[in-house]
Amino acid sequence: MRIIVTGGAGYIGSVTARMLAKSGNEILILDDLSKGHREAVKGLDLAVAQIGDKNKVKQVCGEFAPQACIHFAAKSLVAESVENPLAYFQANLGGSMNILEALLGVECKVFIFSSTAAVYGEPKDVPLTEDSETRPLNPYGSSKLMFEQVLEQTARATEMKFVSLRYFNAAGADLENDLGEDHHPETHLIPRVIAVALGKEPCANIYGTDYPTPDGTCVRDYIHVTDLAAAHALALERLARGGESGIYNLGNENGRSVREVVEEVKKVSGRDFPVKEAPRRPGDPAVLVASSKRAKAELGWEPKHESLEDIVRSAWEWHKRHPDGYLT
Ligand SMILES: NC(=O)c1ccc[n+]([C@@H]2O[C@H](COP(=O)([O-])OP(=O)(O)OC[C@H]3O[C@@H](n4cnc5c(N)ncnc54)[C@H](O)[C@@H]3O)[C@@H](O)[C@H]2O)c1
Repeated sequence: MRIIVTGGAGYIGSVTARMLAKSGNEILILDDLSKGHREAVKGLDLAVAQIGDKNKVKQVCGEFAPQACIHFAAKSLVAESVENPLAYFQANLGGSMNILEALLGVECKVFIFSSTAAVYGEPKDVPLTEDSETRPLNPYGSSKLMFEQVLEQTARATEMKFVSLRYFNAAGADLENDLGEDHHPETHLIPRVIAVALGKEPCANIYGTDYPTPDGTCVRDYIHVTDLAAAHALALERLARGGESGIYNLGNENGRSVREVVEEVKKVSGRDFPVKEAPRRPGDPAVLVASSKRAKAELGWEPKHESLEDIVRSAWEWHKRHPDGYLT
């Protein structure tokens, strides 16, 4: 299949693009390299373009004539989205609509979207199912939810089918293809704690130790990046076979606390480091855990790296090889 992968120079996109290329698909990555890395593209075709550039997006889609699109490109820093909501709606809603319009113009009928657990906001109950209430707490989550609604309405009015994948916390590395997580700034817990273990940061911070959780720290659902990539391949297969559009959570259904992650990094790295306990940060829900039953039942998805140890070990190995990310 000819697949355009927006954001394919980024963390999850590069792993997914590589997996799909290896299974014989023709891949074109569209990325403005604002956060991604040319090194992560590793020889796949790359169009350097912004999704906000409507004419360029139309031209690239016109020339490549994709049969499917996987749309990862987005701004995804929650705090930045609170400071500058317009930039987030412009990129994540406006830019995504440019892609969708260009695809409809070349009769591409298969669209896979990177959505997020942030669409749910503060959960009333966990695990979160796809039918849980969606009340995003920030413009990032809102922009993703709004584009899901655009997809739903477009699918009703056209032949376009979509799958929206609501990821929980992506983590780990694809060691086989030497692809890992290299965000600037890094806001995700596992690479931040690994940076401390590598001596690049002075101490690991735990924000909030008085949450109503077993050890008082926030609980999140970590999902290995290669398991996420596999879900995209399955979503593509479903739509290519004529399956219906749908929305799916992708998580491990197994929450792990911040303290557990810190301890796991210490264990896997064999290094001790200082840990500082700090007050809660505003807007951090106590527990975010997915039910992925629907993805398992309807996509046939089976995560292979569910243990926190596996996830942390792969991340640790990659960061040890690349202490300065893709620069090293
Ligand atoms: N990493 C996670 O835990 C997580 C969780 C939930 C959802 N998501 C979503 O998954 C997707 C991928 O996340 P990631 O962690 O791989 O992010 P990433 O920042 O590593 O990758 C995003 C890529 O998109 C590119 N990009 C950004 N804005 C662009 C624009 N306007 N035009 C063209 N390219 C642009 C960046 O250069 C980068 O290569 C995002 O949509 C994100 O919101 C990620």
